[in-house]
Amino acid sequence: MINLDTRMQNVAIVGAAGKMGSGIALLMALEMAYRALEDREHTYVLNLIDMNDTALQGLLRYVRDQAQKDGEKQMNRLRALYKDRADLVENADMIQEFVAEVMLHLRTGKTLTLAKDALLVFEAAFEKEEIKFQIYNELAVVCPQAAWFLTNTSSIPLHVLADTCGIKGRMIGFHFYNPPAVQKLLEVITPEGCDPALVESAYELAKVLRKKTVPANDIAGFIGNGHFMRDGLHCIRDMEHLAEDYGFVQAVYMVEKVSRDYLLRPMGIFQLIDYVGIDVFQLILRVMDKYLKEGLHSDLVDNFIEMGVKGGQTSSGGQKDGFLKYEKGKPVAIFDPAKRDYVPMDEAFVKDMDSRLGAHPDPSLTWKSLSRDPEKEARMRAYFQTLKTMDTLGAGMARNHFEASRDAALDLVKQGVAARAQDVNDVLTLGFFHLYGPINDFLD
Ligand SMILES: NC(=O)c1ccc[n+]([C@@H]2O[C@H](COP(=O)([O-])OP(=O)(O)OC[C@H]3O[C@@H](n4cnc5c(N)ncnc54)[C@H](O)[C@@H]3O)[C@@H](O)[C@H]2O)c1
Repeated sequence: MINLDTRMQNVAIVGAAGKMGSGIALLMALEMAYRALEDREHTYVLNLIDMNDTALQGLLRYVRDQAQKDGEKQMNRLRALYKDRADLVENADMIQEFVAEVMLHLRTGKTLTLAKDALLVFEAAFEKEEIKFQIYNELAVVCPQAAWFLTNTSSIPLHVLADTCGIKGRMIGFHFYNPPAVQKLLEVITPEGCDPALVESAYELAKVLRKKTVPANDIAGFIGNGHFMRDGLHCIRDMEHLAEDYGFVQAVYMVEKVSRDYLLRPMGIFQLIDYVGIDVFQLILRVMDKYLKEGLHSDLVDNFIEMGVKGGQTSSGGQKDGFLKYEKGKPVAIFDPAKRDYVPMDEAFVKDMDSRLGAHPDPSLTWKSLSRDPEKEARMRAYFQTLKTMDTLGAGMARNHFEASRDAALDLVKQGVAARAQDVNDVLTLGFFHLYGPINDFLD
């Protein structure tokens, strides 16, 4: 049996220069450098594969810069590792040496043949079934028979990929959250027939990378997107309904405000969809609907994509415009499909909309203030009890959204996507930074 350390001696990442791939690359590059420094007997190689050459160069720069920062934070560890190196005196010398060590293990290339000796293959290519099938069909031939595959797919059932591509038993879902180097959560999706040794090693690796794992079953969308897609669709439908009385832009504002400020979330639902990318939201919906056949679809999302309004991130991490327009990362206007233009959220507009929503249950409570509050559980409980009794448009919308979110979460447990309510709550609190899990008794 090949142990995890041996597997870590030759690793490949496919789609390495993308948002997720680059974070995984950084995590693995650092881990390999430390292993190599502790164990001079073995060679560690990290094969970074991406079809985009320019992005691969950007990836190398990113890993180098982040390795420098990591080295600065890990001076004690570096001092211990370089204790026999009389030539390295100053901190700066050791950091420079460490950065060189990290870069030493990296190989970049555009073709999957670079993975020919890899025993551990991460994949974070585009979320398109045909692309993933193509990649795994080729990897099945190129990679050693003993290779294991860790996919970052957000929605595609793993057994479909693994069975179709001839790697049954050798694939597991290793679903990082964005950005992988920072986010603590890792959803581990184990398809039926997965080699138990792979399952064990996947959890061992997650521990090495200091991730908090949540197990999910191999059902399209898994836990994170299983909740997010249904939550997003609920809000889009609620908004469309509201738009009949108030107008499109007004309805987007109201649902955005309620989903953020009334539900005490870090961002409103439209900002979150923009952050993920409206195009990615559409792709995930399509895959989930193909396998689950429960009407997970939105004409509005399709229309936005047709109009070229996609959201998502710029290569430097800035927010692109989508449902909302952003200035310095803050929403300032709302897209009006009838005008094909953004309508500013000026003071008069905000005042008018807020008065229609009615008073906020407790304006002193925000996601930010509560995040640092040791009494947050009790405060939220009292807050939702107030919200429960309020007879305003905003409070009613908030209760509806709260219940839709809870129902979506409960369905995930009922359908066996999650084994326990706590797993869904962990994904929402750790992966989406909610202050509370959707399965709770706050409104009871
Ligand atoms: N972005 C997120 O928030 C997020 C979160 C969790 C999981 N995911 C999943 O991670 C995966 C990657 O998402 P992303 O957001 O990083 O995408 P991305 O578009 O930023 O990156 C994808 C990368 O894959 C490369 N690529 C595509 N096809 C390839 C091929 N055939 N060979 C080599 N390289 C190829 C692209 O050049 C690109 O650099 C998807 O499966 C997605 O669902 C994304």
